[in-house]
Amino acid sequence: MKTLVIYKSVTGFTEKYARWIAEVLSADLYAAKDIKLEKMLEYDCIIFGGRLYAVGIDGVALIKRNFEKLKDKRLIIFTTGASPKKEGIIDEIRDKNFTVEQRAHVQLFYFRGGFDYKNLPGFDKFLMSLLKKKILRKQKIGKELSSDEKGMLAIYDRDIDYTKKNAIEHLLLAARKD
Ligand SMILES: Cc1cc2nc3c(=O)[nH]c(=O)nc-3n(C[C@H](O)[C@H](O)[C@H](O)COP(=O)(O)O)c2cc1C
Repeated sequence: MKTLVIYKSVTGFTEKYARWIAEVLSADLYAAKDIKLEKMLEYDCIIFGGRLYAVGIDGVALIKRNFEKLKDKRLIIFTTGASPKKEGIIDEIRDKNFTVEQRAHVQLFYFRGGFDYKNLPGFDKFLMSLLKKKILRKQKIGKELSSDEKGMLAIYDRDIDYTKKNAIEHLLLAARKD
């Protein structure tokens, strides 16, 4: 099976997973900005990875806008986030990012990436500061914080890498399946 790995990564965590996957599968690897649909059509299996961005998958529009031409291929999507993997996360991400038809064709995986505040673009830093203020306000009025919100406060302005190569095992199985 001819396999292609595409990634969109801002601070490198998604790219790290994409490189591991491409290396193990001997697949071709492209940054999303460098690939065109014509090239994508040459492959049987397309693996796309993008960071989680307020539960949206950054860059997945590349797959969604070409979905009609890609849907008969094996489509595997992974996303990386700073939060630990928790029960229900895959369903939540799938429902938020894909239509009912797309959900039937796409296999979705979540890997824990990391957080690299200092290398975020200015706009992302701004969004993070708004989010932090919102969480602190909630804390101040005595409301219980969710585990994600607590996690967010703990890592907000830090650099932390949670990537683990063995996290990709299930994705590799899905890519290799006959
Ligand atoms: C504005 C913003 C929103 C984010 N939203 C989420 C989120 O909803 N869930 C999560 O787990 N991580 C979230 N993150 C963290 C990133 O998804 C995480 O750092 C990711 O691994 C970065 O991947 P990259 O290095 O490939 O860009 C967010 C980060 C930013 C800057």
